[in-house]
Amino acid sequence: MAHRTPIVGGNWKMNTDLASAVELADNVVASCSPFVQHTDIALFPPFPYLQAVGKTLGHHGILLGAQDVYYEASGAFTGEVSAAMLVDLNVAVVLTGHSERRHIIGESDELVNLKTRAALDAGLWVILCVGETIEQREAGQVDDVNVRQLTIGLDGVPVEQMRQVIIAYEPVWAIGTGRTATPEDAEAVHRVLRATLADLYDESVAESVRIQYGGSVKANNARELFSQPNIDGFLVGGASLKADEFAAIVQATAATNVSQ
Ligand code: PGA
Repeated sequence: MAHRTPIVGGNWKMNTDLASAVELADNVVASCSPFVQHTDIALFPPFPYLQAVGKTLGHHGILLGAQDVYYEASGAFTGEVSAAMLVDLNVAVVLTGHSERRHIIGESDELVNLKTRAALDAGLWVILCVGETIEQREAGQVDDVNVRQLTIGLDGVPVEQMRQVIIAYEPVWAIGTGRTATPEDAEAVHRVLRATLADLYDESVAESVRIQYGGSVKANNARELFSQPNIDGFLVGGASLKADEFAAIVQATAATNVSQ
């Protein structure tokens, strides 16, 4: 089986203020730097704090991430932020298709695809998020929804850019609810996503792309989730706002990885 470097992201969403963002980043550097040899780690602060958090991360090996991006290069798009602007601030990785943007802001699969392609063209890594709602799960549409979001999200992305792509499976009903998918349920979807990557590209792409799980990941469930063969790390919301809890989640991926 291909070796995949684990990747853990801390999505701070619309939380923190300038002082607490810098303090949190500082604490994450202190607690997570020892793990950067084994696990890719990224923090996703709100846009206004990117520069300050980036400065705090410095050269400790923790990646600066952005929660969103717009697909146009420049122009009259009030309030939007281009991929080049993110690159300018040393952002390395960006989220696209997060369920809060799909379901609260109303982003379509097609818009997610445009954002994904623009970010990849700018040289950024992209974490493309997919996931079904509870209604879709109860209607037996789990695979359909995730395969559709993945397929449209990656439409037109050439095989060479797949090295920059990470997928996050985040069942909407598990985000911020304290309700986590069981390791087996998550693994089942991860397997479907990997098989879809093989259909869209080839086996070697499918084996090398990292697939994160997200949705109420905590220090006490990370290790069991990570023991599944197709779960390659986590996208963490609430628990990423506490440096020690986030570090424990990172450690769960690094420890398992080291002992392999
Ligand atoms: P949560 O959020 O960990 O608070 O459930 C996960 C996410 O939205 O990425």
